[in-house]
Amino acid sequence: MIVCSCNVFGDRDILQAADRIEYDGRKLTALAVYAELGCRPRCGCCRLMIESVLMGAGHNVALPDPEKSDELHIRRTIPGSSTLSYVQDMKRAAAG
Ligand code: FES
Repeated sequence: MIVCSCNVFGDRDILQAADRIEYDGRKLTALAVYAELGCRPRCGCCRLMIESVLMGAGHNVALPDPEKSDELHIRRTIPGSSTLSYVQDMKRAAAG
């Protein structure tokens, strides 16, 4: 399944990249995955899906702070976005 249409990579690429990234004791970030795949975020629309794929595979993922600019950017640019509740749901899931 294609996750990032700007850079053209999918869920398997994300999981293979995550396996190559050494993040001893730290949380894995979507930015580290982009870097491992030799690219960077362009539109950024795929970031939440990358984090979801990583969490679904059991990785310890650093989720965006809803009060930080990235999240505010998403809320501003996607009218009617439920991104904030999505992030809150992901944080609850990560907390167990
Ligand atoms: S869809 Fe991934 S950066 Fe645009």
